[in-house]
Amino acid sequence: MIKLAIIFHSVTGTTKQLASSVAAGASSVTGTEVIEVEIVGADIIEGRFNNFALLEKLTDADAMIFGSPTFMGSVSAQFKAFADATGELWAEKAWSDKVAAGFTIGSNLSGDQLHTIQYLQVFANQHGMLWASLDIPGNCDPQNRNRLGAQSGLIAHSKDGVLNDTDLMTAHYLGQRVAHVAKKFSG
Ligand SMILES: Cc1cc2nc3c(=O)[nH]c(=O)nc-3n(C[C@H](O)[C@H](O)[C@H](O)COP(=O)(O)O)c2cc1C
Repeated sequence: MIKLAIIFHSVTGTTKQLASSVAAGASSVTGTEVIEVEIVGADIIEGRFNNFALLEKLTDADAMIFGSPTFMGSVSAQFKAFADATGELWAEKAWSDKVAAGFTIGSNLSGDQLHTIQYLQVFANQHGMLWASLDIPGNCDPQNRNRLGAQSGLIAHSKDGVLNDTDLMTAHYLGQRVAHVAKKFSG
């Protein structure tokens, strides 16, 4: 049995919908326990992330998939506060060799969402995690998944808060992929 955690922040719910699809995809892989962990504003006190119970939940995860909306070209402040609170875990190499991946959404087609994914990758690599890309060839997929053609992680787009079905399908696939990759490494 592998444990896969999805850690995300969402204000208006679109990232949360993606997180649910990622979770459904991961859960569909036999032998995968999935936990969804939402970062909320109340976790942050005087600018610092204080929910240590949430961090505790991640300790024995084999894989983590990080999700944040793109705000001003990067992760949200709330996600960054969470990331900054993992400094001690970084020093202990507590997340080293865990599999990681990421997803984001923006309201512009090219709203600098790639930078959010790249931040998530750097964050994972700071921890010595192994980054799993999105291996759906952009414009070749018969189901049009990964329609925005990001291979480093899932980039979704919504102008009006309504999720595109193919973005949800891509999120489902990302969850499956990370569960499969984590299973390979857990042996
Ligand atoms: C403060 C702020 C900054 C934003 N910056 C960007 C941006 O840089 N690029 C983009 O494409 N969308 C941007 N957006 C739009 C959000 O990414 C988009 O509405 C997203 O779906 C929100 O995610 P959520 O529903 O999980 O909160 C921004 C929205 C807000 C409120």
